[in-house]
Formats: sequence, C-alpha cells, structure tokens
Amino acid sequence: MLDLEPHWMPFTDNRRFRRSPRMLVSASGVHYRDSAGRSILDGASGLWCVNAGHSHPLIVEAVTEQLRTLDYAPCFEFGHPGAFEFAADLVGVMPRAFDRVIFANSGSEAVDTALKLSLAYHRARGEGGRTRLIGRERGYHGVGFGGTSVGGIGRNRAAFGTLLPGVDHLRHTYDPSAAFTRGQPEAGAELARDLQRLIDLHGAETIAAVIVEPVAGSTGVLVPPVGYLQLLREITERHGILLVFDEVITGYGRLGGMTASEVFGVTPDLIVLAKGLTNGTVPMGAVVVSAHVDEALSTGVAPGVELFHGYTCSGHPLAAAAGLATLRVFEEEGLCERAAALAHLLEEAVHELAREPFVRDVRNIGLAAAVELEPGAGAPGVRGFEVLKRCFEQGVLVRVTGDTIALAPALVYTEAHVEELVGAVRTAVRGIH
Ligand SMILES: Cc1ncc(COP(=O)(O)O)c(C=O)c1O
Repeated sequence: MLDLEPHWMPFTDNRRFRRSPRMLVSASGVHYRDSAGRSILDGASGLWCVNAGHSHPLIVEAVTEQLRTLDYAPCFEFGHPGAFEFAADLVGVMPRAFDRVIFANSGSEAVDTALKLSLAYHRARGEGGRTRLIGRERGYHGVGFGGTSVGGIGRNRAAFGTLLPGVDHLRHTYDPSAAFTRGQPEAGAELARDLQRLIDLHGAETIAAVIVEPVAGSTGVLVPPVGYLQLLREITERHGILLVFDEVITGYGRLGGMTASEVFGVTPDLIVLAKGLTNGTVPMGAVVVSAHVDEALSTGVAPGVELFHGYTCSGHPLAAAAGLATLRVFEEEGLCERAAALAHLLEEAVHELAREPFVRDVRNIGLAAAVELEPGAGAPGVRGFEVLKRCFEQGVLVRVTGDTIALAPALVYTEAHVEELVGAVRTAVRGIH
C-alpha cells in the first residue's frame, strides 16, 4: 500500500485527498491512465503546460538522449550548447523586439527574475528610485515572495505576513455584467487608467514595473477588455515604467499564437514563460528580454558580471533539450495554427453550458475557457470540487479553482475530445445541488 502521509501536496486539501486519492500513473497524448487502469481525458493540459500532448515521442527522445550525453553542467562561468541553442530558437519565435533569454526553473522563479531585472534596469540607468512594483487584483504570479506580493489572490497572501513593501495593485478587469461574453469584453479598457491613478499617487519616478497576465488564468480565464492592454502599454511607455507580461499560461499557443503579446498586438518589455516551454516535461521558466532592457543591463554596463542572479539549474541540459524539442514539435505540427482553428469549436461547445443549472458565467479565449458556478450558500468551492470529482468519475480531468471550472485542452485535441470534455462538465454540473 502506498503511504500517502509523508508527501505534502501543493495547493491541495491533503487530508481530503488522502481519504479519496486520485492517482495518475501514466500518460500518452491527451490521456492519462489512473491507478485503477481507467483512461482519463486530460482537460487541463496537465496544469496548463502539456500543450503538445503527453509523452510526445520527439520530446521523450530528446530528453533521453540528453540524459545519456550530458546530465548536468555548471552554468556559472561554464556553458553547454543546448542552453544557447534553445535561447536562440526561443528568441526566434518571440516578437521582434526581444533578443535575449534568462532561464529559471519555474514560473515563480521566472517572475521573481523579471521583477529583479526591472529594478536592476532602472538602477543601471541611474533611476534607482524606481523600486515600486505594481501587480493586479486576481493576478497569479507564482509563489515566490515577489510573485506573491504582486499577486492579487487574497488566500495566497493571507498566511504570509506583509510580503514585499512598495507594492500596489491595479483593479482586476472582471465585470460580472459582461457575463457570457465570447472572447474579449467590449467595455472596460479604461480600467487601465488605474495605473495613472497610482502614478499620480506615488509618482512615476518611484515605479519600476507593472506586471499582468494578459489573460488572468488561475483566477478563472479573465479575458482583457478590448483596448485594455494597449492602454496599459501607452501609460507605461509614457512614464518610463516597464511592462511585464506574465505569459506562463498565455504563451506557447494557448491563445492561438506563440504569445499573447503577438495575439493582442501589444509588446511589453519583458515576457515571462514557463509551463509549455518544455511541454511540462522538465521544470523550466524563462524571462525573454527586449533589446532596450538588454542594452541597459548587459551590453551597456561596465566589464564584469552583468547580473548577480541565477540558479544552479538555469538552462539545465535536460530542460534545454526538452525546450528545443518542444519548439520543433510546435513548428512541425503547426500547433499554434491548430489551437487557433480549434478555438471556435471550444467557444461554441462551452457556451452551450450557459443554460445549465448554477452556471453564472462562461468565458473563453483561444483554447482557454472557464465555467463559473453560483457558489453554494455558505459553502464556497463545494460545487466546484463536486464537479471536479464527477468529471473524474466520468474519466475526465478538469482544473477547478473555487467554483470556477477551467478548461485548457491540449493544442492537439480533436473535435471529439472537445465534445467529450464539455459533455463531461455538462453531466457533472447537472448532478450537483
Ligand atoms: C501566470 C502564472 N505565472 C506564474 C506561475 C507560476 O509558475 P510555477 O507554478 O511554475 O512556479 C503560474 C502557474 O500557474 C501562472 O499561471
């Protein structure tokens, strides 16, 4: 019998889990197999990361081969070719303004790296007074102290004291009166003017960076109003504030392009990536740096170490191999195009759920969708978890936060998979009280 006690699972009700564990033992394509031998349709791309499908042969082969050849190489003052090759290929698929990559080992680390880079950038340019960081309510930027501080989820912050000083937040962009909007809501761009209010309050000369998820993923696929990101860009640019897009979820095809930046036509100064970067196979995060930030921080500084920052496993050989292979799969299989083609189908299917009991909103963009349920009286999260359980009983895995069910199909889904996924949610929702 497997001992479930010693492992403390993240973001999990561990005691509830131990009473009725859901154990996944293998995976291939868009399916898992659970410990009872059942096939489970992956409706969440793992945790928004296995965008190209599980155990892709090309990625498996690349990582295996790398492990046989070079398992590890120190990354301070030594290199290995894989990290350089991957950085070059990655820059090649990013918007044109970007020319360098800093690797980390998770989204959280990459976020904290981006925040530190922002501070260092201003200091290098003689504006060391710019230390304030601005996040947004309902934003999720991982669990480091930086990411938790700029994050806007009360429960994620509550236990951890005062967090970083000098942080402020924009209001979130969710508007319940726009419920059941397909894609981007028309109204709400002016919420970006919150930034102007914070500039008026604190002074632009104190603000280093604004970090947002172009589409807030973890708090339930909150799609930005038309023009919102453009306005944020305008205001940041006008005041010399760096704009950081946390694309840990929106990157790698989720919205039908390599980045949300490309899809929305808004170019930030830094892009944070993780998850899909290695198709979830080997932990990795990255900050993609625009040329002007790079110029200030690396080519334009005095000789010597440019940035006193990095991790033992930055650009790890296995992660780099997985990253390179993932990019090859994206290109050879046209995964962004496939996602874009499938998005309409997901939209149609998921909005059919609007008529089901307790559904108070359905949101979607690209291959991301959320079905938000009316919370039970005095029991928030209970209906959501009940849907997760009922879907799993039907052989479908969905992601739930509170009473919102998030759907994140792999980019290699077929029409039948979309129908199966949405059908399972429908049956589950019909069964709850
Ligand atoms: C937008 C965003 N940023 C950062 C993170 C943190 O990534 P990780 O869990 O790899 O640390 C996540 C994870 O869900 C995320 O969605």
